[in-house]
Parts: sequence; C-alpha cells; structure tokens
Amino acid sequence: MATTLNLTQTRSHFPALSSGYIFADNAGGSQIPREVVDRISDYLLNTNVQINVDYSISRQSTARVAEGLKAATELFNAASTNQVVLGGSSTANMDNLVRRLEGDISEGDEFILMDGEHEANNGTWKKLAERTGALLKYWHPTQVIPSVNPCAIVHQVDQLLPLISDRTRVVAFSACSNILGSVLPIKEISRKVRDEANAKGAKKVQISVDAVAYAPHRLIDVQDWDIDFCMLSFYKVYGPHAAALYCRSVSRQPSSSVAHELVYGTTGIVPYLLSLTPLNNLQSTFDAITLHEESLLQTLLGFLTHPKQRKRGVMIVGDETSDTTRVPTVSFVVQGNGTGIESKEIVKMVNRRGGVGIRWYNYSCFTATGIPLPVENGVARISLVHYNTVEEVHKIIEILEDTFASSDSNGLSDSDSSST
Ligand SMILES: Cc1ncc(COP(=O)(O)O)c(C=O)c1O
Repeated sequence: MATTLNLTQTRSHFPALSSGYIFADNAGGSQIPREVVDRISDYLLNTNVQINVDYSISRQSTARVAEGLKAATELFNAASTNQVVLGGSSTANMDNLVRRLEGDISEGDEFILMDGEHEANNGTWKKLAERTGALLKYWHPTQVIPSVNPCAIVHQVDQLLPLISDRTRVVAFSACSNILGSVLPIKEISRKVRDEANAKGAKKVQISVDAVAYAPHRLIDVQDWDIDFCMLSFYKVYGPHAAALYCRSVSRQPSSSVAHELVYGTTGIVPYLLSLTPLNNLQSTFDAITLHEESLLQTLLGFLTHPKQRKRGVMIVGDETSDTTRVPTVSFVVQGNGTGIESKEIVKMVNRRGGVGIRWYNYSCFTATGIPLPVENGVARISLVHYNTVEEVHKIIEILEDTFASSDSNGLSDSDSSST
C-alpha cells in the first residue's frame, strides 16, 4: 500500500505555489523546489571557479559537477555514470547522439517511430534516415475498444510487432506521450520487440525511449527496461533547464555540456523526491505520487467525460480510463456539428480568467491519418503533477464549466446543464 503524500509539506518546497496560482501546464515544465534552487545559488555564490584545477575551491566545484552526473545516473537507474551525458535539452542531446550513430546505419535499415512522438525522439531519427537512406515506419495509435470516443487512442504493442523486420535497426517511442498521457509498459514492449527482432533475424536493434513526459510521474529503470537510449529533461522533473541522456553503449556517447551551476542544481532533485515519504526510496516516492495523481485524474476526467460534457462535444484525446495506466496529463477537444469552441479559444478563455495556467498543444507531431483530430486547432491540455491538489482541480472544473456554458446556446437545455 503506497504512503499518502502530505500535500502541505510537499507544496512547502515550492515557493511559487504559495501564491495560490494553479500551475496546470506542468508537462511544459514543472516548478522547482528549494533544494534545487538553493544548490544553484550556492554553487554560484561559493564555488563558481574553473573546474578540474588543483586548488581547493576548484576541487570542490569539480566534485559538485560530478555529483550532478551521479544524480542523473540515479534517476535513470543506469549502471554507470559513464553511460550518462548531460546537455542543454533532450532535443540537443538526441541530435548529438544520432550524429554519432550515422556511420553505423546502412541504406535500407529501418527505423520504427511512434506516431505522435515528440520531435526529440522522432525528428532526429527522420533526419538521420534522410542522410543515410534508412526507411521509416510508424507505430500508429489505435482506438481504445470499447469507446464511443474516436479520439480515445493508445499505442498498442500488437500494432508495433508486425512492423519489425530483419532490417529493423531502431525502435523509438515515448514512455508516456505528452498529449495522450498513457504510461506504456516499457519492459514488456522492449522484451517483445527484441524477441520479434530475433525471430525475424534482425542483427542489431536499438531501442530509444523518450522518458521526458514520464519522469515526473513514474520511476525510470533503464536496466530493467533493457533499452539502449533514454532521455530525460530535468526541467520537467523539478529541476533546472537542462537534460540527461542515457546511452547503453559507452563508445557512442556525445560529450556533456551544461552550465555547472545547473548540473549541481540537479543534485537537489533526488533529495526532494526522497523527502516525500518517510521510506527514503524512490520507488516509494513514485508509488505515493501515483496514488495522489490518480485522485487528480479521476476528478478531472470525471468532469470531462460526464454525459453533459459529451453532449457539448467534449472529447478526451487519449485513454479515458482514470487509473494508474495514465498520468494526469489530460488533452481534449470540443467538437460537435461545427458548434464546438476551438481548443485555442477554450484555453484563451480559461487563462483570461487569471489564477490558472493551461495551454493548447499543436497536434502537428501526429502523422496519423484516419484519426479524427482537429490538427489545425490543436488540443487543450491540462497537465497536473503531484503538487497539484484536488481542490485546484475543482477550481479548474468551475472555470471550464463557465467556459463551456458560454457555448451552450448551441443546443443544451437547462435541465442538461444542472450537473457536472
Ligand atoms: C515528451 C517530450 N519529449 C521531449 C521533449 C523535448 O525536451 P527538451 O525541451 O529538453 O528538448 C519534450 C518537451 O516538451 C517533451 O514533452
């Protein structure tokens, strides 16, 4: 049984939360706890010298930078700090990595990419395919059955396996989409991909996992997952604007380059996470996070999937199930005989009220055809993390109710509008 989070204690680590503002665009970047900010300023105020030199303060700052690499190694559960590279962003890290793989790719090799994947783990492989003559295949999401909602889509491993051939070289996907919010069973996918590739005679398959939208909600374990590359952006997981990349093969690593104070700042992330339960291990922390986030998800999805909202044309983009197979990153559109409000407009109206920040997201990263998504208008996205409260979700619901009500002249009766 997971420990319950003490929300007052949890929130006290984040000065920004005391203002009462509701941060609901966390998939764009999380708030940063004192543990991290204090380390950044301590580095700058007290140890901001050239590293790798033989005077005492330099030895101290060198050790601090090394600690940052250890922190990232711990977050990945990588076997060695040699397998971890730090960089300005996950996108830049992947670009650097993929350039180093270029000599190892032949014309006709196949890359399987996840349709809907963020460009960080998609665009880089596409560019490499252009340069090398490798072929692209896409793992498309499919509708959750049974569901009346055509946008209730998830990536199912059964759709991935038939794409594998003896020429498969790379399989790249997200542990959790920053739009759909479903948590994929990485270990199972990785095992099935490798079994299928072996059976079909593929000589070398590397699995590249984008864990950027996953890391704030669940524990990463690159060893257990048996994957080759994994990306994580610290600024989405309660750290500063920098990123880490896990590369199983040491010889293929790009070199690290991040401001030293930020590297040292990342060493505050694990202590913050460990402070959330008395059990002092990361798995317990993420169990407690999962439990709390499920209550946020249930409250928000309960409102957005209510028959009244359905009648208004509200459709969740992603799985509507509010359990632990999902994180509280909730995307939706409003459609219905052309009377719905555009996603952009909903977000504008909510944000105009003040006191809460949500965003709309462009679906251009989805290359799928056949899924009825309003590509040009994007989707509205509310993305919550463990420091959000159920009370905050109720406030968001109140604002959404007002926003949706402004379009009710398009057909809802008074009796329809009494319940949420
Ligand atoms: C799922 C996902 N992957 C990758 C990235 C890119 O991260 P970075 O900004 O560190 O390049 C993002 C950023 O929003 C993301 O949401």
